[in-house]
Amino acid sequence: MAFVELEKKGLIGVLTINRPEALNALNDQVISQLSEVLDTVDPGETRCLIVTGAGSKAFVAGADIAQMSKLTKEEGTAFGKLGNDVFRKLETLPIPTIAAVNGFALGGGCELSMSCDIRLASETAVFGQPEVGLGITPGFGGTQRMARLVGPGKAKELIYTARNIKAPEALAIGLVQAVYPAEELMAEAEKMANRIAGNAPIAIRACKKAINDGLQTDMDKAVEIEEELFGSCFDTADQKNAMTAFLEKRKHDPFENK
Ligand code: HXC
Repeated sequence: MAFVELEKKGLIGVLTINRPEALNALNDQVISQLSEVLDTVDPGETRCLIVTGAGSKAFVAGADIAQMSKLTKEEGTAFGKLGNDVFRKLETLPIPTIAAVNGFALGGGCELSMSCDIRLASETAVFGQPEVGLGITPGFGGTQRMARLVGPGKAKELIYTARNIKAPEALAIGLVQAVYPAEELMAEAEKMANRIAGNAPIAIRACKKAINDGLQTDMDKAVEIEEELFGSCFDTADQKNAMTAFLEKRKHDPFENK
């Protein structure tokens, strides 16, 4: 059973969590398949990855509550690590990622979206970390990524109250970058992904690394990270191609990822 599907569309990929009968809830099989599918993404061929959920109702309605209900303390810790390792793999994928949030993004679903670089939402999307209402903490990175994305005060308010928010509020607090009518979401996500895919891939990869690694350290170290990655771009054919074309007042040749 394919709980995770990857479709290649030219230079972009669309990864779909496909368990609509349970609103795409993440059990250990889904999480393991997500890990395996992420391993098949070839940054040489795919320049931007969209992550979405099957069906019109949910992105991902959380980790699987039926499965979690029986876990012991040790098994709970292991389940959290399973998800954290896979979400960290997604977060550090060497290509940009866009979550196309097409409905409920609750608990582990909200956490999955926060492991992507950019979040686009449908008008029907609902975000939330309902875990404390189930007697647990957000366990797939939610306490960490929510605080980094929307600030500690708002993250604590949302996590402590277990309050769900609709797309306009998610936009207002900076959790998502844009909201579209449901029927336009995937087209808009693909438009953004294709625009990203048309830019220099090695430079984009360096930007992602600079932002992600720089946010984890102090500014002195962060600018050093930037300097090194900036310098590395001058070793690329894509930089020579683009700058030469600018000086010759013509459009650059397509970027080669070299
Ligand atoms: C298991 C789930 C599920 C979940 C939905 N389903 N969410 N199964 N785990 N997280 C299943 C339902 O049991 C049901 O199965 C089917 O999907 C359809 O859901 P309904 O509840 O009938 O739909 P609806 O009434 O429209 O309500 C939608 C909903 C609700 C509001 C999203 O399903 C809901 O509250 N789901 C749980 C959301 C949640 O609490 N997520 C956080 C989980 S904790 P049947 O067989 O009855 O048709 C978490 C922790 C992450 O994510 C960290 C772990 C380490």
